[in-house]
Amino acid sequence: LKLTPFIDQLPIPQYLTPHERHKCFSYYEIGMKEFFHEFHSELAPTKIWGYEGQFPGPLVNVNSGECAHIKWKNELPDQHFLPIDRTLHGSSEHMPDVRTVVHLHGAEVEPESDGHPEAWFTNNYHTVGALFDSPVYKYNNNQRAATLWYHDHAVGITRLNVYAGLVGMYIIRDEEERKLNLPSGAYEIPLIIADRGFNEDGSLFYSDTTNVRPGPVQPGLTFPHPSVTPGEAFENITVNGKVWPYLEVEPRKYRFRILNASNERFYKMNLSNGQKIIQIGSDGGLLETPVYMDELTIAPAERMDVIIDFSKLAPDDTIVLENTAATPFDFPSPIGTPPDPETDGQIMQFRLVDLTGPDTSNVPAILSYIPKLRECDAARTRDITLDADIDEYGRLKFLLGNKGFMKRIDFKPKLNDTEIWRFINTAGATHPLHIHLIQFQILDRTPFDAQGFTANGLLNFTGPPVQPDVNERGWKDVVQSPPGFVTRVIMRFAPFTGRYMLHCHILEHEDHDMMRQFEVVERKC
Ligand code: C2O
Ligand code: CU
Repeated sequence: LKLTPFIDQLPIPQYLTPHERHKCFSYYEIGMKEFFHEFHSELAPTKIWGYEGQFPGPLVNVNSGECAHIKWKNELPDQHFLPIDRTLHGSSEHMPDVRTVVHLHGAEVEPESDGHPEAWFTNNYHTVGALFDSPVYKYNNNQRAATLWYHDHAVGITRLNVYAGLVGMYIIRDEEERKLNLPSGAYEIPLIIADRGFNEDGSLFYSDTTNVRPGPVQPGLTFPHPSVTPGEAFENITVNGKVWPYLEVEPRKYRFRILNASNERFYKMNLSNGQKIIQIGSDGGLLETPVYMDELTIAPAERMDVIIDFSKLAPDDTIVLENTAATPFDFPSPIGTPPDPETDGQIMQFRLVDLTGPDTSNVPAILSYIPKLRECDAARTRDITLDADIDEYGRLKFLLGNKGFMKRIDFKPKLNDTEIWRFINTAGATHPLHIHLIQFQILDRTPFDAQGFTANGLLNFTGPPVQPDVNERGWKDVVQSPPGFVTRVIMRFAPFTGRYMLHCHILEHEDHDMMRQFEVVERKC
């Protein structure tokens, strides 16, 4: 099944309007529905799930400080259409198939509204998980302008629910950003990138078996069926729900809010004409200054706010946003497969049309001010290992701190404390680690002897610390943690106490079993 690239126009997700505007908050209702979606004009419509029956879901657009209350409604059928692995934590036969819960990724929210994996609910809240609190989530949006996203987070099936289509973008705006006069309106466009596989009949493809057997074959041990895999990547790259779309652009500046909403795939993005991409923002909002990048490596769940200036191009020119990242990322060939320039090596195309009016937007040399969190203010440093392990069926699985999600809470930062977390990656690939509640800053990445560390627990550095890339020197909620490096991040735990998640954002890893909880606790003097 080979689809022709660049024959469908890029869809632009629409803004959601509130159901009610109250004095102190806006009230929204967002329903999750099953529907048929056209991914490509050569493909039969595909059954998927989406917020408000859209993929990606509608854009939520709020001002910083403006409260939004959202009632999340599961209006999905009782049966899942993707293969559920009953051996994963929280996914047994006793659990309803179609559990959903929504996490607003990158938001500072109270634990009851954070979408804990065990706060799931079924259609019409018929059955709910142990930590379910209320169907209405409260978002204060008391944070700077940033591109956030909402997505499913149900225990044991997050990878399936997100792949089915439960993703959407959530934009916070503020005065600081408005004053900059960045490209806006029709010239500010979200690009939500996600890879998908299709069967001949147009239905979504997702593996139900795994053949990755890291250890020796143990007699009598067979893999469960269906089974989770160590990661799922697909050759069709969709942007805003279309496979390899094109966008007509005028010769002027555009702002693109790029989100990688893929399960496993990283993208190393560049423009085919060699032109630089100007990055102005990261996960947690604007950078201090624009950075001019030849290529951008975006991991699952990361956001990159960029400017592309098409003004030097001529009418009828076309350029392609290309991808050169191998999957799994950071594995040398042949395990890491480089993309095919004809398929997953392409993301989308820009086609130049005539200018309709002068470009009065700006990209100022100073965008923002980011106060540096200081190492000397850290109350403590925690070490968290990234481990490759073998589960009871002989399958490869990944862990954080050598434990899975079920295990007790070992990380209890005190409210308002600054801490440094060191991610010690002995687990082969680059893992995109996400911490809920806060935005952090990346301190550095230092190479170490991973084999020696696994053997005797001694942390021996083998080189000097590497500073974060220039486009990583802002607020982040996902950090790429490469193998053989200790990656340090620093953050302040505020403004809420309670239980939150820390996990790898490769969704097959998160479900099996690379997710832990931490609890922000009250300070008792
Ligand atoms: Cu975007 Cu805990 O997830
Ligand atoms: Cu991972």
